Amino acid sequence: MTAQLIDGNALSRQLRSEVAQRAAALKTRGTTPGLAVILVGDNPASQVYVRNKVKACEDVGFHSVLEKYDASMTEAELLARVEALNNDPSIHGILVQLPLPGHIDDHKVIETISPLKDVDGFHVASAGALMVGEIGFKACTPYGCMKMLESIGMKDLRGKHAVVIGRSNIVGKPMAMMLLAANATVTVCHSGTADLAAMTRQADIVVAAVGKRNVLTADMCKSGAVVIDVGMNRNDEGKLCGDVDFDGVKEVAGFITPVPGGVGPMTITMLLVNTMEAAERSAG
Ligand code: GUN
Repeated sequence: MTAQLIDGNALSRQLRSEVAQRAAALKTRGTTPGLAVILVGDNPASQVYVRNKVKACEDVGFHSVLEKYDASMTEAELLARVEALNNDPSIHGILVQLPLPGHIDDHKVIETISPLKDVDGFHVASAGALMVGEIGFKACTPYGCMKMLESIGMKDLRGKHAVVIGRSNIVGKPMAMMLLAANATVTVCHSGTADLAAMTRQADIVVAAVGKRNVLTADMCKSGAVVIDVGMNRNDEGKLCGDVDFDGVKEVAGFITPVPGGVGPMTITMLLVNTMEAAERSAG
């Protein structure tokens, strides 16, 4: 059996076109969705990410602001910028690109962002809202994974067993909460879980988010399972690859997300969805 691909590029195109329509509708009511992106320092990967985020905003008709600061910016200066954006009515979403330089406390910066503008979904209030089923913003990568499941008809996951490998604050933990909210039975593992294969072999859905190659191989996978690969690694030839042994697992799984072209494009797409949502909520 060869698994069907879940195409993150195609799904992103569809969701972004829906966002563009919502943005146009909100504009006729006098509000243009606005996203502010802050980059401190010159991390090359971060520079590419923020450029892509700003470009994606332009493509759907959002107002976007990119603020770039030298790595010598102080924590107090950054907090003051975040406060100013909290009070700027043309800005509905604020994203501070991580990682920040070592002398700045990430947590303090994230907690300074207004939860009403926390489109990354990293604020404690956003994580708490997700946990108790209140309205907040969902972290973009796991939110994108949920949309990928929805795209293959898996919206209500009652009776399904989902295994999440990885427990980071920005993917693994919120992913587990979103799967629970969709009524799945959820097991959260990490790369050091004893007999990880015994867990994954029971899973109807496996989400791999460790950041290490070959975390999931064909022998660890139930026939017909849905496999979502959040990993972004390089193989020996320097080519982008995920956490899943794609060539092996695709022969066993029912559905699988490729890397590249799977979860990756969904992260920015869900940032647009969250920013759209923030603008609609503020417009009332
Ligand atoms: N660095 C890597 N991924 C992300 C992300 O999704 N949001 C922010 N703010 N920083 C990141």
